[in-house]
Amino acid sequence: MNILVVGGAGFIGSHLVDLLIQNECDVTVVDNLATGNLKNLPEHPRLKFIYKDILECDLKDFPDSFDGVVHLVANASISASWEKPLSAHNANLSSTIKIIEFCKKLRIPRLVYASSAAVYGESKETPINERFEVNPLSPYGLQKLSGEKYGALFAKEFGFSFVALRFFNVFGERQSPDSDYSGVISIFSNAMKSNLPITIYGDGRQTRDFIYVRDVARAIYKSLVVTLKVGSTSIINVGSGNQTSLLKLIDLLKRQFPDWQQEKIFKDPRIGDVLHSQADIAKASQELDFISKWPIDIAFETMLKTHDVGK
Ligand code: UD1
Repeated sequence: MNILVVGGAGFIGSHLVDLLIQNECDVTVVDNLATGNLKNLPEHPRLKFIYKDILECDLKDFPDSFDGVVHLVANASISASWEKPLSAHNANLSSTIKIIEFCKKLRIPRLVYASSAAVYGESKETPINERFEVNPLSPYGLQKLSGEKYGALFAKEFGFSFVALRFFNVFGERQSPDSDYSGVISIFSNAMKSNLPITIYGDGRQTRDFIYVRDVARAIYKSLVVTLKVGSTSIINVGSGNQTSLLKLIDLLKRQFPDWQQEKIFKDPRIGDVLHSQADIAKASQELDFISKWPIDIAFETMLKTHDVGK
């Protein structure tokens, strides 16, 4: 297979590239390196890298067509989407429309799109099923939801199949701990590694569905190869199906950093923070034959061995 990965030098994209290369695919990565890093990518004869913003790309950049495109371009910071909605819109939604146009012009038969659990907003119950009402609470969530709707509309019109994967809380190697809005696992591991205190927003009893990035790469791969009808749309949760509280998470991380002796600082919950999140994973299992293979504690051992987290 010949696959285009837009945003392929980032956290999730680079793990997908590793998996695609292991599966003997030819891979073209387009990335503007705004949050991605070339160091995340392997050097490989089957990998081509285009250092460009997808919004600046034209047909000349893609002399060959592709069997599928994976769209991972995002500015995933909820706060940034409030502060700079237009630039978030460009990163999150204009990029989607541009990629849809490439699907038409290059006759690419499959588009896999990184959506987010943020489309649900606060859910009345867990586990969260794809049929639940969507009610995004941030521009980011709204942009992701709009991308799903654009994808579905144009898939029918242009005749490609569209898979929107609603990622829950993804963690793993190469996730940057550098901002306050980085994933909580990368922030906590980074602090514990340097024996620094950690801050808990709320009482620590909020829960999340944490899913390891290598599992997410598998879900994307399965979305590329699964048989689908021309013009169809599938919207699928990608989570582990488990709920883990922050307090439990800290216990699990402490096993990896037994020398960590610092205090936990409790602060008010963040505005708009959802209390509980857990994916209903039945659809992923039925439609993609996907189920998470990495229990969180085993994933921690693996990722911390690579020294790539908590740098
Ligand atoms: C995550 C995604 C977001 C997505 C949303 C969908 C990440 C980084 N963000 O947001 O893109 O839209 O799921 O539901 O994966 N926390 C602390 N201390 C910290 C950092 C965080 O207590 O230092 C808390 C947060 O307040 C939150 C929980 O940990 O309650 C998880 O936070 P975070 O990892 O930022 O993810 P979400 O907010 O769930």
